[in-house]
Amino acid sequence: MFATLSTQPADPLLALIGAFNADERPDKIDLGVGVYRDEAGRTPIFRAVKAAEHRLWQTQESKAYIGPECDRLFLERLWRLVGGQAVAANRVAGVQTPGGSGALRLAAELLKRAGSGRIWLGLPSWPNHAGIFAAAGLAIETYPFFDVAAQSLTFEAMLDALGRAQAGDGVLLHASCHNPTGAVLGAGHWRALGDVILSRGLVPLIDNAYQGFGQGLEADAAGLRGLIARVPEALVAVSASKSFGLYRERTGAIYALGTTPAAAEAAGSHLVALARTGYSMPPDHGAAIVRDILGDEALRQDWQDELEAMRRRIAALRMNLAKALACTRPVIAAVAAQEGMFSLLPITAGHVLDLRQGQGIYLPSSGRINIAGLPAQHLARVAASLVEA
Ligand code: LMR
Repeated sequence: MFATLSTQPADPLLALIGAFNADERPDKIDLGVGVYRDEAGRTPIFRAVKAAEHRLWQTQESKAYIGPECDRLFLERLWRLVGGQAVAANRVAGVQTPGGSGALRLAAELLKRAGSGRIWLGLPSWPNHAGIFAAAGLAIETYPFFDVAAQSLTFEAMLDALGRAQAGDGVLLHASCHNPTGAVLGAGHWRALGDVILSRGLVPLIDNAYQGFGQGLEADAAGLRGLIARVPEALVAVSASKSFGLYRERTGAIYALGTTPAAAEAAGSHLVALARTGYSMPPDHGAAIVRDILGDEALRQDWQDELEAMRRRIAALRMNLAKALACTRPVIAAVAAQEGMFSLLPITAGHVLDLRQGQGIYLPSSGRINIAGLPAQHLARVAASLVEA
């Protein structure tokens, strides 16, 4: 039977990791997959993560199963970080998931079970969004989000498109640090989105994967909090991959906001049932680390300090890169005001290939650049190559 299958193309972002590792040039630079890197090109383990792991190793006495939703303390503490006091805790049901992708998949399957057939995605969005939602059986609709040549939001067109959505449709939004564009939604944008979501009866699914990398831990959650405070139902997918540097530990959560405590409980029970038939239970280790960091004042402060230093480093790199590139086209100066790891540059797939083959500079073919992967010492070289492209 397997001989009848055609070989699937590798995921473009994950394939870049392999291509970069196989490249033997010592001055190669990886601006591809979205991981934070320090000046030396390393993706460090947060100090607080190391300390929490050490404590866990000393104190953990069992590896027995934890239970269906998994670690409740992790879920409560993470929700406070994300949702704050925006909604009553008894209207929210959370389930621990394998990373943010696991959270998105459960959210998509819950929408499908609840009778929603479609989800609206921005153009562009993280490439795997469409794959996850299609795999869960949702039809994909798109709304214009960003004009790459102009480096600006296409917000009116976004509202127009969502104005044609039908009651019960899902709408995928990025909480902050938009992947791949870095474009920022201000308070007015979130308010207008809330208006269209309420008037059309839509269900927002908010992907929160980069909290702390944009304008700060609180500011990055402000749009999300304002929206969930207004809508009757919502889904929030949370990833700890970047904010806690736990990429390979696959740590995340999905939260369902219901109109009543009973509705939230019902949604939570479906999320648990979906997890059970999908993979039974998620890995524990990363969630235990996050739980312990968020529950210990000293560890939490240290984690916040380190995250804030990363955020500032990326912001400084953004400013300098924007300055260096603005000579090509003035609109590129907008990169400085974007946020998070990514910006989407107006270069073609052919230019991207030239950069990889000629310079050992790795970007996805979309032209997305992971600014967090750019060592300051190589900024001038990368900028010159991009200008040439
Ligand atoms: C990215 O966009 O590069 C990250 O979210 C990693 C991934 O899984 O694609």
